[in-house]
Amino acid sequence: MGKDDSFKDGDAKKGANLFKTRCAQCHTVVESEGNKIGPNLHGLFGRKTGSVDGFSYTDANKQKGITWKEDTLFEYLENPKKYIPGTKMAFGGLKKGKDRNDLITWLREETK
Ligand code: HEC
Repeated sequence: MGKDDSFKDGDAKKGANLFKTRCAQCHTVVESEGNKIGPNLHGLFGRKTGSVDGFSYTDANKQKGITWKEDTLFEYLENPKKYIPGTKMAFGGLKKGKDRNDLITWLREETK
């Protein structure tokens, strides 16, 4: 097994910084802050794709039909347009597995 091909617990502090610099212009994890350019990420883990009320998703995102959790986020965030062809999320991806591990470790706590 390569070291970069599946989720492993990472460094949440580094993840916080990645969220701030790469995701926060479009997303918040704070429930009361609602949707921005992207849907609110509060409660993300265990939720089906495309299920935030009041957010206008693409059909591609809605119909992906998977549940967001560590391994699905690990694959999605490497290359969102490959995982969900037709998504309108304008984000190229986090190519380093370590960055995805750090970010997902932070998200898992902060989206609760
Ligand atoms: C330029 C704005 C933008 C950036 C930057 C961005 N996103 Fe998104 N994101 C979106 C939009 C818009 C959607 C909805 C896509 C659709 O409907 O096709 C989305 C969808 C998502 C979804 C699916 C949510 C669901 O309810 O199905 C997740 C998870 C997500 N983004 C996480 C992230 C993370 C983590 C980052 C940072 C690494 C990030 N996004 C960066 C705009 C962005």
